[in-house]
Amino acid sequence: MKKTILAGNWKMNKTIEESIAFGKCITNSLKEGGPLVIIFPPFTSISYLNEVLKGSGILLGAQNMHYEENGAFTGEISPSMLKDAGASYVLIGHSERRHIFGEDDELLSLKMQTAIKDGLVPVLCVGETLYERKNNLTESVISRQLTIGLSLVKDTENFVIAYEPVWAIGTGINATPDEAEEVHNNIRQTLGKMYGENVASNISILYGGSVKPDNIESLAKMDDIDGALVGGASLECETFLLLLEKLKSAKML
Ligand code: PGA
Repeated sequence: MKKTILAGNWKMNKTIEESIAFGKCITNSLKEGGPLVIIFPPFTSISYLNEVLKGSGILLGAQNMHYEENGAFTGEISPSMLKDAGASYVLIGHSERRHIFGEDDELLSLKMQTAIKDGLVPVLCVGETLYERKNNLTESVISRQLTIGLSLVKDTENFVIAYEPVWAIGTGINATPDEAEEVHNNIRQTLGKMYGENVASNISILYGGSVKPDNIESLAKMDDIDGALVGGASLECETFLLLLEKLKSAKML
C-alpha cells in the first residue's frame, strides 16, 4: 500500500538546540493516525532528534549521503552512519544537490543502490527547470531522471519519489494541482513500465516546491499526489502541524 507522507526538508537550517525544540513541540501536539511524518534535519541534529522523537512514530531522514560504505572520502557520510544515528530515510538527488553540487543521474543511481543495500528508504527527487518546462522537455527530463536514477533498483525494493519542479522550489510559485498531477501521473506510468503497474501503484509520489498551508489541500486531493516534501514551511512547528492537519483532511485519513 502506498503511504501518505508529510516530509520536512530543513536544508541547512537549525542548530541542535533548535531541532530539539521543534522535536518536542511536534511530539507534544501530534495526534493519533494520519500521514507518515518524516523530518530531514541537518546531519548534526539526527541523533539528538532520534532521542526526542522516540515512540512518536515520526521518522528521520538525511538530506544526502555518499554511495560508499567507508573510506577516504573527506567530508562525506555513509548510509550505515546515517542509520546508526537514527535515520531510516534519505533524500537522493534533491534539486540543490543536482544543480549546486553537480550530482548527475549516474551518481544518483549508485546512491540509490547503496541506500537500499544498507537498509535506508531513499526518496529520489526529480524535476525540470523552467527552461525545460518552457521547451516542452518536462516529460523527457523526468523520464531520464527516473530511468537512470532507478536503474540499479529492483521491483521488490522500497523507495519513494518526490516530484519537485526546480522553478517551484523556494520561489513561492507552486505547480498548480493540475500541472503537478499531470507529471505525477506520467511518473507513475514510467514506473509502471519499469516495474509493472501493480508495483507502481504502491509507490508514494510526493510533490515538493512552495508547499504551504494554503495550497497543500488542493494538491493532495489529486489522485497521484501521495503527500508533500516541504522546505521553507517545515521549519516552524505550528505551520508544520497545520500542513499535517490539512494533508490528513485532503486524504480523508
Ligand atoms: P520549498 O522547498 O518548500 O521551500 O519550496 C522544497 C524542497 O526543496 O524540498
